[in-house]
Amino acid sequence: MISVSILNADFGRLNEQIDMINQSKAAWFHLDIMDGVFVPNISFGLPVVQAVHARAAKPLDTHLMIANPDPYVKEFHHCGSQWLNVHYETCPHLHRTLESIRKAGMKAGVTLNPHTPHSVLEEVIADVDLVLLMSVNPGFGGQSFIRNTYDKVARTRELIERKQSQALIQVDGGVDLKNIARLRQAGVDVFVVGSFIFRSEDPVKTIDELQHAIETA
Ligand code: DX5
Ligand code: ZN
Repeated sequence: MISVSILNADFGRLNEQIDMINQSKAAWFHLDIMDGVFVPNISFGLPVVQAVHARAAKPLDTHLMIANPDPYVKEFHHCGSQWLNVHYETCPHLHRTLESIRKAGMKAGVTLNPHTPHSVLEEVIADVDLVLLMSVNPGFGGQSFIRNTYDKVARTRELIERKQSQALIQVDGGVDLKNIARLRQAGVDVFVVGSFIFRSEDPVKTIDELQHAIETA
């Protein structure tokens, strides 16, 4: 599945860009929330999530890059998120945070920075709906893919199977037509793609090509 990151979309034409994603083969919308504290950039907040939700015909997958996610869990549900990803690095009581996401009625995702080993999930993986492995350092779209991610995906897949978890594996950052097939072969279920789509001449066709590469990998 493809989840389109709108971080590099043209926000002056947001409705048009949402319609493009609605018409494409993408499965989800990926919304990057950045607070300028946990990551060195500020993106957008709840009113934008609400606006996307009002027009999107597909589920919203919200990636929180904020220092203190706990007080905002319910609000993201009210604004239309179906999937909520929190960073392991921001949650000292991760089990409690995951519980609160599920209690609020959403699917719970945990995101790991490139330097954070997959093994930190050993004791919670059974209660996780999605593991998001960052393949760039979070904060900006358009960065280059970190190649260690291939092996990290395989190690995460092994952990999920050993613990009989239902968690999906998602990868985010620098995904394009050159690496998507190999990532699929390593075990990725959901691919976040941003700038590769929005910088292309025909975004719907680019999504088609990415989807085809996933299906034939
Ligand atoms: C990075 C964000 C990503 C980013 C992906 O911090 O989490 O979702 O927008 O964009 P590309 O595909 O441009 O790397
Ligand atoms: Zn993201």
